[in-house]
Amino acid sequence: MQYRTIAVEASRSYNIHIGAGLLSSIGDMIRPAVGCCRLAVLTDSNVESLYGNSIMDNLRSAGYEACKFVIPAGEASKCAENLLAFLNFLAAERLTRSDAVVAFGGGVVGDLGGLSASLYLRGVKYIQVPTTLLAAVDSSVGGKTAIDIPAGKNLVGSFYQPSMVCCDTALMDTLPAEIYRDGCAEVIKYGVILDAALYRLLHDVPFERESVVARCVEIKRDVVQQDEFDNGIRGLLNFGHTFGHAIEKLSDFGVSHGAAVAKGMVIAAKVAPLCGLCDIVEELSSLLVRYGFDISCPYSASEIYNALLSDKKRRGGTISVVLPRAIGDCTLVDLPVEELETLLEKVI
Ligand code: GLY
Repeated sequence: MQYRTIAVEASRSYNIHIGAGLLSSIGDMIRPAVGCCRLAVLTDSNVESLYGNSIMDNLRSAGYEACKFVIPAGEASKCAENLLAFLNFLAAERLTRSDAVVAFGGGVVGDLGGLSASLYLRGVKYIQVPTTLLAAVDSSVGGKTAIDIPAGKNLVGSFYQPSMVCCDTALMDTLPAEIYRDGCAEVIKYGVILDAALYRLLHDVPFERESVVARCVEIKRDVVQQDEFDNGIRGLLNFGHTFGHAIEKLSDFGVSHGAAVAKGMVIAAKVAPLCGLCDIVEELSSLLVRYGFDISCPYSASEIYNALLSDKKRRGGTISVVLPRAIGDCTLVDLPVEELETLLEKVI
């Protein structure tokens, strides 16, 4: 089977394998990372109905003893109740420190599975098996794990690197169009923040999935290797996310992550020229519209501003915002919160 491997050197070093059809040899693929152990697979109800039997059959035929825990699909599942329920499941199944968790799904499953693995017995290995484009290019790579709490998204979490990422790009064939499109927002983000050549490639709609996923993963790998614990350049990955998270929160997660990030990137692009940086609004908006995004903002400047005040990127009286200097070149700007309020009033 043909696949690409991208190596990550972080506090834990690991390989990311990317290719169509990898699920059919998942058991053999993960052996170098976890050895012979028991596996607890975490997945969601959508992935379970499509691929739940395939992964369990494959793991068992490769000689693994494996159990499975299924959560309802959707962002609401990334919660403290499911974290505790899965931890109780791991304990009831008597998983030991030499065993491993397999997070088989999109960002919710990956974040919850990773956080559980970092907490259970003070840390067991875990493997990310992303099934959405968004998880493949972003959340499965780099070791950020989290749950949401009522005060906000991803407010409780850890940095905990997986032992391997195994990305079967063929699984994305069955994604509903709007879920696939969510991932396209993250892909476009990589082009804007760090890679003008990738950005140009994305004008061929639809893009060639495997090579584009691999390029995004390489970009994220390079960023994570420089700033694993998110004290500097890793903040660039938040382009569109500061405003996007505010929109997600205001909509009570009715606006999906990718759709919110698309709107957030346009707001950030509009703020940039007001801060003396370049104007990519037309260019970025037209590409997002070609991908089917509605780039209008359904909330007022003051609603967005108030939602931003609980953002974890806020430090004291400033909030860190990623702004474009050009396509392929973004910068982090710390804006005083009152200034941000005035800027938002001008662009929304
Ligand atoms: N999703 C942003 C990061 O991993 O830093």
